[in-house]
Amino acid sequence: MTGRDKIVLAYSGGLDTSVAIKWLQDKYNLDVIAVGINVGQPPSSDDIVARALRNGAIHAEFVDAKKEFVEDYIWPSLKANAMYEDAYPLSTAIARPLIAKILVEIAQREGAKYIAHGCTAKGNDQVRFDVGIVSLDPSIGIIGPMREWVMTREEEIEYAHQNNIEIIVKKENPFSVDENLWGRSCECGVLEDAWVEPPREAWGWTTEPSEAPDTPEYVEIEFVKGVPVAINGEKMDGVKLIETVNAMACRNGVGRIDHVEDRLVGIKSRETYECPAATVLMTAHKSLEFLTLQKDVLEFKKGVEQKFSQIAYNGLWFGTLRESLQAFIDTTQEYVTGTVRVKLFKGSAMAVGRKSPYSLYDEGLATYAKGDEFDHKSAVGFIYCWGLPNKTAAKVHKKQ
Ligand code: ARG
Repeated sequence: MTGRDKIVLAYSGGLDTSVAIKWLQDKYNLDVIAVGINVGQPPSSDDIVARALRNGAIHAEFVDAKKEFVEDYIWPSLKANAMYEDAYPLSTAIARPLIAKILVEIAQREGAKYIAHGCTAKGNDQVRFDVGIVSLDPSIGIIGPMREWVMTREEEIEYAHQNNIEIIVKKENPFSVDENLWGRSCECGVLEDAWVEPPREAWGWTTEPSEAPDTPEYVEIEFVKGVPVAINGEKMDGVKLIETVNAMACRNGVGRIDHVEDRLVGIKSRETYECPAATVLMTAHKSLEFLTLQKDVLEFKKGVEQKFSQIAYNGLWFGTLRESLQAFIDTTQEYVTGTVRVKLFKGSAMAVGRKSPYSLYDEGLATYAKGDEFDHKSAVGFIYCWGLPNKTAAKVHKKQ
């Protein structure tokens, strides 16, 4: 025990957060607890916990948060068809409040007064971490080393050498990438020119759609109350289900997104995303909702979905409005139970079949063939009432 105050560092094992362990000790005279959090990033052979300890952390741990991510963040977002600016399934955004929550829990357990994260001053993620932390424990102080220091990448490497910090210097990646179960975000480099088509190297997960198989692949997704529970008849837990759909969609080139988005901090930025499972599951979920929800619910829910997406994007996950909207959304899912068949083919995912014990689609009413149950006599009377306001106004306006 050094008797110093403690800080919990959100630690990825990368250059920035490795350097931050030493920097926080020196600049702030704090003991560092390094915490890696697994929300479904690709596995690495590097034992980042052991390396954090060798680099001076007094304690280090790696938390597997995949199950909690799926159940408490991804499924609620799927039920909300959450899509920021109708384009981005919020894959990075919804992982941040969970990471903040885990950091707060560890800080409370370890008696740490501070939390640190490696976000820069220009992005949304700093907002999501900071607001997430203060929403859960307003007594915790927050330090963002990357917002404070002025080191370039080269200077960070130099600092690491001078201070015997063990780092794994990978070949410089021209892109900034964030990955989890719900998607992969990629920005910077040539993508900063919004006119340039994303080069091959910007895509990390999905097959080039033109090189995907020449025969379509079909997947049947079963939902219970808005949550997917089985793939092609096989029941599986949420983590495995998303991994399974990700693999199917990736090999068919499904889930690529190229978007110029509005950050909370006022900047427009060009980003690409690969959200294979999110694309397929949201397509299927929406299709099942169209089958099982009434028209007025669908219309009203659309506005709620948009608000929900903005809240999630803007870092207000742990807030009364998100929780209240969630309660509404959950209620709408009572009958969103059934199965959707999605066709995956060279970059596209299309719902081509759906069924539900609660289907509101009534073939007797819909059919133009024999067995029609619709009361044709009702049409004329209904149209008389429906058009009456326009008819009345037309008469008056013509007079004047
Ligand atoms: N623009 C996305 C968001 O704000 C992703 C941000 C992280 N992306 C990255 N490549 N580091 O949610």
